[in-house]
Amino acid sequence: MSQSTLMEKLSWRYATKKMDPEQVVPQDKVDQIVEAVRMAPTSSGTQPFELFVITNPGIRAEIRKVAWDQSPITEGSHLLVFAAWDNYSADRIDAVTAQMTDERGEIPMLNQYYDNLKAKYLPRDETVNHDHAARQAYIALGFALAAAAELGVDSTPMEGFDPAKVDEILGLKDRGLRSVLLLPLGYRQADGDWLLPMKKVRKASETMVTLID
Ligand SMILES: Cc1cc2nc3c(=O)[nH]c(=O)nc-3n(C[C@H](O)[C@H](O)[C@H](O)COP(=O)(O)O)c2cc1C
Repeated sequence: MSQSTLMEKLSWRYATKKMDPEQVVPQDKVDQIVEAVRMAPTSSGTQPFELFVITNPGIRAEIRKVAWDQSPITEGSHLLVFAAWDNYSADRIDAVTAQMTDERGEIPMLNQYYDNLKAKYLPRDETVNHDHAARQAYIALGFALAAAAELGVDSTPMEGFDPAKVDEILGLKDRGLRSVLLLPLGYRQADGDWLLPMKKVRKASETMVTLID
């Protein structure tokens, strides 16, 4: 099977364990990775998360302390923090409808759709809604991982941190957000990364994929 460039890049990327602190990801590449996050599809188009792009060394050092001391957080040049809405609210969903109406014009079906969405989401438990919002952030994480790989930028997706502490460091609670994912960006330090020489391990497609025809 001939490999597309995207497939080659996806096998090139890995969850980098050691980044070279001397190397900085150029702004235009960071911008493209951020743009991939913005372009990611989300359920009903609500985009229920925000992205923090952190270069500040002091803040990254604070976050590293509550994230298993994972070195890419400070040795990469940029840290992306995905923070999902703590809950859905009428205001948040109305803002989505308002933007759509503004950019596409008045569509009665659209109002009906988002009224139904509010009827379904708003009575639900906050945790259910936050978890749903967090799942949308994970889609965007996937886009960011692929975009970074495409640009030859290394990254480390991370759930290994204390979200409540990161929320405190970034003041997320007051903004109705909760941190769900970290993604340091940088460049691998080839001689210091135990994972780099190792084979990429994935399940065989026969194990994972069932064809129903
Ligand atoms: C949502 C998510 C959370 C992860 N959390 C961490 C983490 O906290 N620290 C880490 O070193 N790797 C983390 N990983 C990396 C995975 O272990 C890694 O992606 C997986 O083993 C596959 O290896 P590869 O990405 O190198 O191909 C995470 C990956 C994902 C997708």
